[in-house]
Amino acid sequence: MTHRPSLGVCYYPEHWPEERWAEDARQMAELGLRWVRVGEFAWNRVEPREGDYDFVWLHRAIDGLRAQGLAVVLGTPTATPPRWLVDKHPDMIPVGRDGQPRTFGSRRHYSHSHAGYRAECRRITEKFASEFGGKVQAWQTDNEYGCHDTVRSYGPHDLTAFRLWLSERYETIEALNDRWGNIFWSMTYDRFEQIALPNQTVTEANPAHWQDYYRFASDQVVSFNREQVDIIRAYSDAPISHNYMGRVLEFDHFSVGADLEIATWDSYPLGFLEDRIPATPEHKVAHARQGDPDFQALHHDLYRAVGSMSGKGARWWVMEQQPGPVNWAPVNPAPLPGMVRAWTWEAVAHGAEVVSYFRWRQLPFAQEQMHAGLLRPDGKPSAVWDEVAQVARELAEMDVATETADVAIVFDYQSCWAWEAQPQGEINGDAFSHFDVVMRYYRALRKLGLSFDILPPSTTDFGARRLVIIPALYAWTESLRGAVDAFGGHVWLGPRTGAKTEDFALSDALWPGVTRSHVETFRDTRPLLRGGAFECWMDHVETEHDVEEFTRDGAPAWVRDGKVHICCGLPDEALMTRWMTKICAKAEVETEALPASIRRRDLGGRRVYVNYGAQTVDLHGEPIAPAEVRLVHQPEMNADNAPPTL
Ligand code: GAL
Repeated sequence: MTHRPSLGVCYYPEHWPEERWAEDARQMAELGLRWVRVGEFAWNRVEPREGDYDFVWLHRAIDGLRAQGLAVVLGTPTATPPRWLVDKHPDMIPVGRDGQPRTFGSRRHYSHSHAGYRAECRRITEKFASEFGGKVQAWQTDNEYGCHDTVRSYGPHDLTAFRLWLSERYETIEALNDRWGNIFWSMTYDRFEQIALPNQTVTEANPAHWQDYYRFASDQVVSFNREQVDIIRAYSDAPISHNYMGRVLEFDHFSVGADLEIATWDSYPLGFLEDRIPATPEHKVAHARQGDPDFQALHHDLYRAVGSMSGKGARWWVMEQQPGPVNWAPVNPAPLPGMVRAWTWEAVAHGAEVVSYFRWRQLPFAQEQMHAGLLRPDGKPSAVWDEVAQVARELAEMDVATETADVAIVFDYQSCWAWEAQPQGEINGDAFSHFDVVMRYYRALRKLGLSFDILPPSTTDFGARRLVIIPALYAWTESLRGAVDAFGGHVWLGPRTGAKTEDFALSDALWPGVTRSHVETFRDTRPLLRGGAFECWMDHVETEHDVEEFTRDGAPAWVRDGKVHICCGLPDEALMTRWMTKICAKAEVETEALPASIRRRDLGGRRVYVNYGAQTVDLHGEPIAPAEVRLVHQPEMNADNAPPTL
């Protein structure tokens, strides 16, 4: 499948006088933008009082954009329920893990389990769909499910819905008692109505209780989203999307994605570096104006996989791209000149159909007054304007064909929840997490120049790939085991893989012929190996298979059963690099020794290099400056299209 990447922007006509709208639309078109997202926070403006609708202004705003040839994404406004609606349903407000209700005065102030709020969402979605179904070119449901810690709510409506969910899953209370292991600590229940949410227990709740609560909370997001999708579909053929966030792990994006044509996400590289990546202070300083070289790339790949779930091709966009300093991280630097263009190219190189900037014009009031836009508050072009115009020109003639990568990593949301419920160890103060383990593998392999696919755990066929990494999967599913068994390439199983049953009990064998005798986590007593060590985690195993490498103490560290490789600990950076180089050689995956600050991504006959460092470095005998993008045409790489000149 080929596509021509284009650019877009997020626009809030309701924030600006109507006399300015035509000029905004004209400038957007002139800049080379193609898509404009509107509407997702405008509930109070379209329904200032219950049942008192005003869509006329939004029709005019959309008509004005269309008149300039711009395509429109319309967002349903359900992330910002107005005050009158909260007055009508005061108990729709989510309750925090500490048992305290949150309050009105920002956004996302709702519980997905509140039936009354859900009915209001269906009503306003139907209004949007019937008003604009024939007019807009794409849809967005809500805004950033899960952002601001809003998947999990611990109020009375959540409790009622959780009990119902449990009774449907287990059918009898005896089955639940048995599968949770409630004989322990006399926790046996007589009725589903006795079960509480797991957040206020005296000491830790049963991890099986947590895991089911986490599954339930995720399912609530999926069904909330599906209600909107079903309504929109009845009125419109335009594709439906949702804008996911970076490192939001509390709901299964693959399940939401199965109901949508397009996955989009909101990429804020400098904000994320500050506020959600475990990294040394030196790493943060070195990348303060560029962002982490791998965090965005991982999300591009993850959401490309989420965008494939509907089975209609791998459709994904960046819906919100940071265009300058943001307002929400502890410190908010400006991107290096050229970096917004480089981020855009990185997304395009990962197969993005659209990269859309947030926001059109910096707003001089309220929470985001310090957040940059493509225009300054005074309406003049901001520092990034020329860069965006440049990328728009560069992309104008480019058709991209997405392709399957040789290497894939399995990402599993249930494993994120399982290790959150039971981290058992920590790394530099951060609890053991599935995401961080995936990130370690991803970073090590990307430093070797590789391009990846990310796969959901529901994958049944790894195709013609050469290497699949399964980093810290908590429980095997039949389908994934089947995929491994049928695969002709190499499979690498990271620590903790297959450690639990579906019901959160210990599983017997790590892999057939590999038994775990015991597990340990540690800070300083690190098992040493040649050229590195295990950090945080070690599975001590007994095995009948070949051992590729031992720890210095003689414990199996890398066990090999044919083309399946079992890694018994969490490799530190040096060991990870050595082992990933070695496994790639075994799997006949070509690697490239890149300078430390350079990353590469291959796509449809093109090879895109970006310098994420603060220094100019040498790449293939030529200097590449900070934020520079180098595009190399790879004639041997299945390419029909000539690349644009950069
Ligand atoms: C996103 C959100 C936008 C805006 C932006 C600011 O998380 O979707 O509405 O708040 O952050 O960076």
